Amino acid sequence: MSALEIVRTIPALRAAIAGWRQNGQTIALVPTMGALHDAHMALMQDARKRADRVVATIFVNPTQFAADEDLDTYPRREAADIEKLRADGIDLLFAPNADEIYPAGFATTVTVAGVSEGLCGDHRPVHFTGVATIVTKLLLQALPDTALFGEKDYQQLQVIRALTRDLDIPVDIVGLPTVREPDGLAMSSRNLHMSDHERALAPQMYRTLNAVAERIRAGEDIAQACAAGRAALTAAGFSPVEYLELRDAQSLAAADPAHPCRILAAAWLGKTRLIDNIPLS
Ligand code: PAF
Repeated sequence: MSALEIVRTIPALRAAIAGWRQNGQTIALVPTMGALHDAHMALMQDARKRADRVVATIFVNPTQFAADEDLDTYPRREAADIEKLRADGIDLLFAPNADEIYPAGFATTVTVAGVSEGLCGDHRPVHFTGVATIVTKLLLQALPDTALFGEKDYQQLQVIRALTRDLDIPVDIVGLPTVREPDGLAMSSRNLHMSDHERALAPQMYRTLNAVAERIRAGEDIAQACAAGRAALTAAGFSPVEYLELRDAQSLAAADPAHPCRILAAAWLGKTRLIDNIPLS
């Protein structure tokens, strides 16, 4: 067991990192909202290979939740999270409270045009500005060499890539493949909220994405294949199905099959919103 240092203020975070920098050590940052599961731990383990020191953050960021979303019920398990970080030899946990991040008078936000629009952006109006703002702040607070995110939140990953490029933040953004349960369900903290019945239906999303990919690869019209995917999700019990679309893998604009593409979906099972995506290739 390594000595996990836990800090809750920006000056304490910066002091710890400055000490490592003085020794010539590199830093990898893994931002999270806690309730850590195996997909988070895969990011931590990959981070460990890329840098001398790994900094995890846990902050359930209120600005990325709209008023009618699940901020209040989002799972919070700090004690269990700390045990996992300790067991994995993570060096530092930054777990600030909301006042440290958004003190009175806070007035600046980061909005990434284009890639934030459509898909989840259509259904979660404040979400990507909240994500872009907190990730910008965390990157500037820690100034890591590398920051790691999961591809499960694929649109978020592209938003983060765009903001670091546009704002000249000198960090290497690494996206890691989605970690799945044995039945294919993408790991997510929100999976904890599903009933047994919903949990049994949930892997249909991944199966449907694969079925749509197969139809497109077999030459079926893209719009028709995606509509069939949406109908399959509805028939399986997802309601509403927010979207299932093929998009350009980088810009998330309309798909041009000559370039890498991604199939992305979002749909609800009861009170749980599930998202997933796969590459077309
Ligand atoms: O993916 C998440 O857990 C969050 O959106 C992130 C990137 C930590 C920002 O709050």
